[in-house]
Amino acid sequence: MVMTASSANRLSVDALVFDAYGTLFDVHSVETTAESFFPGRGTDLSRVWRAKQLEYTWLQSLMQSASQGREDFAALTAHALDYACAALRLASTAQIRHRLLDAYLDLAPFPDALATLPGLAPLPRIILSNGTREMLEPLAAATGVAQHMDAIISVEAAGTYKPSPRVYQLAVDHLQLLPLRIGFVSSNAWDAIGAKAFGLTSIWVNRTGVPIDRHGPAPDAMIESLIELPALVREA
Ligand code: 2OP
Repeated sequence: MVMTASSANRLSVDALVFDAYGTLFDVHSVETTAESFFPGRGTDLSRVWRAKQLEYTWLQSLMQSASQGREDFAALTAHALDYACAALRLASTAQIRHRLLDAYLDLAPFPDALATLPGLAPLPRIILSNGTREMLEPLAAATGVAQHMDAIISVEAAGTYKPSPRVYQLAVDHLQLLPLRIGFVSSNAWDAIGAKAFGLTSIWVNRTGVPIDRHGPAPDAMIESLIELPALVREA
């Protein structure tokens, strides 16, 4: 069973690691651009695009071999968009594709992220994301998130995608802390479960009230908004 913030004991951690896409940045903010090109289909396009983007990260991680390289998150994001347009029979053009991919570099931050991050200092805070540095750094800077982060780490350094343990190890290597002393915060349940399986103290941000996935150990705590995070990780 995953504990809610109110039922969980306070979590004692020495640093916080944040997932980016879906946790700090709203991947579905591309809906506005999608809707402008495909009226009435923006939500569908955004949902299929995101689902395929993640699926491709998992599939390419499994398929990786000496002869089968892994593409970066920017490439998989573009492939997933192409699939989504084809699956939904949307007549995309090179210009529309370009505009939609640009929208992914300009995602909206979640309001609860902007409201919460400043108050988490002096705990060290870093981002650990599937995104490339080229995707993450300008986005974090433009949204104001970067000023509340001590570092931004891309899975590129591990050469695979979440939820590989090699990715979560990057946070341990960077912070030089025991895994249990690191609080990992993600709204992606599979990511929170992956972090827990690796040994991090895992906090799932369940903004939409969905059930927890069943394929691995439950996160240490569930919150409904990042607003609940400071009280959860503050020493009582
Ligand atoms: C991220 O790593 C899982 O897309 C998510 O930012």
